[in-house]
Amino acid sequence: MEPLPEVTDPRVIDGRKIAQGIEGEVKKEVEKFISEHGIRPALATILVGEHPPSKLYVKLKHWACKRVGILSEDHKFPQETRQDEIIGLIDTLNRRPEIHGILVQLPLPKHIDERDVMMRIAPEKDVDGFSPESMGKMLIGREGFVPCTPKGIVRALSEFNIDLQGKEVVVVGHSNVVGKPAAIMLLNRNATVKICHVFTKDLKSHTKEADILIVATGVRGLIKADMVKEGAIVFDVGITWLDERVYGDVDFDDVLSKVKLISPVPGGVGPMTIAILMEHTLQAAKIQRS
Ligand code: GUN
Repeated sequence: MEPLPEVTDPRVIDGRKIAQGIEGEVKKEVEKFISEHGIRPALATILVGEHPPSKLYVKLKHWACKRVGILSEDHKFPQETRQDEIIGLIDTLNRRPEIHGILVQLPLPKHIDERDVMMRIAPEKDVDGFSPESMGKMLIGREGFVPCTPKGIVRALSEFNIDLQGKEVVVVGHSNVVGKPAAIMLLNRNATVKICHVFTKDLKSHTKEADILIVATGVRGLIKADMVKEGAIVFDVGITWLDERVYGDVDFDDVLSKVKLISPVPGGVGPMTIAILMEHTLQAAKIQRS
């Protein structure tokens, strides 16, 4: 990870600090799990192709496993790999009792249907929370393995003691990975939730009403100060890579003076997502041993 200056502005959510807290707890629990069961929780990752950001994210996930004492197994495939080969590996991993969590890094190459792949992961090993069973349970308010990024956002809101009931939440982006599950999880906590996306007319008219604004579009600098309500809480989930640097969807410098809280890019939701994945892998190991 690139060195970041220490966060001193109280409006800036220090995702790395929150992640360290979560990982510290997971590490202790992993040690306890090992002493009780004599086995180590284990995560298998699957990466297809050469997408450089995905390669980095998977590497960061393996490093996190090492930090908390979780075993990790790295399965890498070339870009042209057929869907049935990936499905075959998932079937094998589903059957292996020493593997507790399975993570398929997204996006997958265009010739592979991500939904078919996600549907194949055994629900008890679905640490990313993308299987239909995990998503369906979340929809009816039974949150088990839910997608890690929205869970990180909910965790951060609770760290800052933000009461969600009746809050106006606007989610920009309707992906299965962030936008949709973030909306459902906040709805489950009785917020009033609106989802905007690429076809939304007059985005600003919606975003400037938000008490909590979650942006996950991948459009660099999409959100400017005039689109944000005074005193809003803003989560920037966007990542655009340009010239070896990452940029968020929110024009941070423009927006900062208006917000109550904001998650920066980098150092915001990214580390929290990985820490939640560690928590889920431990949880998966516990479920499978009980
Ligand atoms: N690609 C972008 N975010 C994620 C994530 O949370 N999990 C996986 N598996 N792939 C991603």
